[in-house]
Amino acid sequence: MTQNALDTRHTRDTWDVQYGDAVASVYDSLIAPALPAEATVDRLRPHVTGARVLEIGVGTGRVALPVAAIAAQVVGLDNSRPMLDELRAKAVPGNVSLVRADFREPLPVAGPFDAAYSTMGSLACVADREELTAALSHIRAVLAPGATLSLEYYATGTYRPLVAQHTVTLPTPHHGGTTTFTITLDDADVLTMGTRIDADGEPPVEFGERVLLIEREEVEACLSRAGFTVERVYAAQSPQPYDWYTARAAT
Ligand SMILES: C[S@@+](CC[C@H](N)C(=O)[O-])C[C@H]1O[C@@H](n2cnc3c(N)ncnc32)[C@H](O)[C@@H]1O
Repeated sequence: MTQNALDTRHTRDTWDVQYGDAVASVYDSLIAPALPAEATVDRLRPHVTGARVLEIGVGTGRVALPVAAIAAQVVGLDNSRPMLDELRAKAVPGNVSLVRADFREPLPVAGPFDAAYSTMGSLACVADREELTAALSHIRAVLAPGATLSLEYYATGTYRPLVAQHTVTLPTPHHGGTTTFTITLDDADVLTMGTRIDADGEPPVEFGERVLLIEREEVEACLSRAGFTVERVYAAQSPQPYDWYTARAAT
């Protein structure tokens, strides 16, 4: 579908693109299988069926591809060229278009959208509450009044205990070998998580992420400041990684 793919450059430096070649190379084989998309799509279904939909942080299309089967149109936005390259290498349906852009800047997409969503904490890739509120405002600006935003955001009840443990090694789900997380939290509430995947017989793959870890009430406050009314919150049951928020663009 590259004919309808935009490739939009923005002002952020490339060092600021968190998802590089290493994580993109293992995302579909070693990371995505830990969180099957079916439950996510079921929760999105009432909002995206037959709708014009925007995904923020589309990644390799784990959710966008099944959503495209029930939506009228999906625009997937991401600032990582390697993640988008993984998605473009798949059989991307004609009702999906991809935009390389940074959600911390005004979004270069033509609204209005009937619904938006962002899964696996993509919107937590921000430095502070102001940047999160700005990102949410950029989404609000391209939504129709009354449109929904469905949002998965890092759950403090799951991640704060991991900070206390500092290093956690787990069997890699559905795969041989182990995944080791090294987790720190700084005074500005930025969680830094290093991931090292040791697959049987293969060289280790290492990458890092920085996300803003804030309480549920603060996420709700950012949504509210950006012009959303929070309608429902599904709180994660530890060890589930993300809370789920359903919010509606103010009319
Ligand atoms: C954990 S992945 C989630 C991918 C996909 N939504 C899923 O559920 O499998 C987070 C995605 O957010 C993207 N991302 C992070 N910061 C971004 C930013 N500032 N602008 C646009 N995309 C960003 C990353 O490149 C990555 O593809």
